[in-house]
Amino acid sequence: MSKLSHAQWSSKMTFILAATGSAVGLGNIWRFSYLVGENGGAAFVLVYLACVALVGLPILVAEWMIGRRGQANPINSMLKLSKDNKLSPLWSLVGASGILAAFLILSFYSVIGGWSLNYTLSSVTGAASGFSGLDAEGVGAIFSGLLGSPGTLTLWHTLFMVLVILIVGRGVTKGLESAAKTMMPALVILMLVLAGYGMTTGHFGEAMAFMFSPDWSALTGGTVLAAMGQAFFTLSLGMGIMLAYGSYLGEDVNLIGTARTVILLDTGIALLAGIAIFPIVFANGLSPGEGPGLIFVTLPVAFGNMTGGALLGLAFFLLLTFAALTSAISLLEPTVEMLEERTALSRVSATLVGGIAIWALGLAALMSFNVWDDVLFFGLNIFDLLDTITAKFMLPLTGLGAILFVAWRLDRQSVTQELGLSGGTETLWLLVARFVAPIGVIVVFVNSLL
Ligand code: TRP
Repeated sequence: MSKLSHAQWSSKMTFILAATGSAVGLGNIWRFSYLVGENGGAAFVLVYLACVALVGLPILVAEWMIGRRGQANPINSMLKLSKDNKLSPLWSLVGASGILAAFLILSFYSVIGGWSLNYTLSSVTGAASGFSGLDAEGVGAIFSGLLGSPGTLTLWHTLFMVLVILIVGRGVTKGLESAAKTMMPALVILMLVLAGYGMTTGHFGEAMAFMFSPDWSALTGGTVLAAMGQAFFTLSLGMGIMLAYGSYLGEDVNLIGTARTVILLDTGIALLAGIAIFPIVFANGLSPGEGPGLIFVTLPVAFGNMTGGALLGLAFFLLLTFAALTSAISLLEPTVEMLEERTALSRVSATLVGGIAIWALGLAALMSFNVWDDVLFFGLNIFDLLDTITAKFMLPLTGLGAILFVAWRLDRQSVTQELGLSGGTETLWLLVARFVAPIGVIVVFVNSLL
């Protein structure tokens, strides 16, 4: 390998790592597993996989392409490409709505990041020295105690946000990304160990059937919308993150191949999380439809009852917190960048102002688990409302804008050329990017609103 091609290889690896660092987070482990449980299992999983392949992949490619061609932040990239192609500057709204979505997502993401931090500590210092010997009921009591205490929740949410602000404010995200190189494989190994433990519970088959043998009658418009929202959430789509990352991409990088790698890693980790979690759920008579607390009431039972569980539990929640941090910094970045460019604030002040605003909104989100649990909008508490507005509506709509722009507004030939497509693969791309993906998003919307 020549020196030059080695350099290219390493920059491509760095890119895959950065994109995977944003993609792999709480979405893969916490959110994926609780949604699978809440939406009845396999039918949801299969629709989710279809959404990832048919909608997620083309939109990921489209966002990277806009970023690579625009070479600027999401709004300016869209402005530049619209101008170059004599299109309306209104297309830049695709970039703008993404910033708002990132702001809203981080507010509740940080609350869950706080739970993960809290569990990291509890796994060694809990009242019963970690989770050791606890049964489902004992762990459930610990979790309800956490949810019921706005003060404790605030403490951990604050700690998580402070970490995110420190990392982004000091611009040390690069160091974190290289640490991800060892942390992410370690997280995968831990989940393999958990899946192995699941096999000893005698409920592995039941869990597999739950995850992969679909009962299509359980599928509703709402389930499909949730699956599509999860595809956007887990791939960090629809808010300009991937668009911004695309601006760092070299001309020589194959977008489709790279997207495939990132998606396989991201989806593989989510499925593995499910395979690790559901045997424990069934073995302990827990309900898969537990909701957002699912991993926090199931995994500690396993850690508390396996050899070396205390150490594994500590490692697991530490690595989960780490994965959450790498995603959270990518969520804070758009707000900070916007404040920096549109106001007189320095980077440090922009990080503080943006971070504190997000933190404050997070307080409202965490109170929906206790003092404000009866404050409902459209039947949803504040936490669920923030999650629903972003994942089910803002992300898909913004992503729809990106794919429509690339597939219908940019010069068709230059796009297929940039993607290295011709003949059959070109037809397939056009079919998926022009019709399947956008129509898919629209149909899911209309169907769920009816
Ligand atoms: N993808 C991350 C996860 O699965 C969350 C995330 C980070 C995100 N950046 C994003 C979601 C941008 C949507 C948009 O945990």
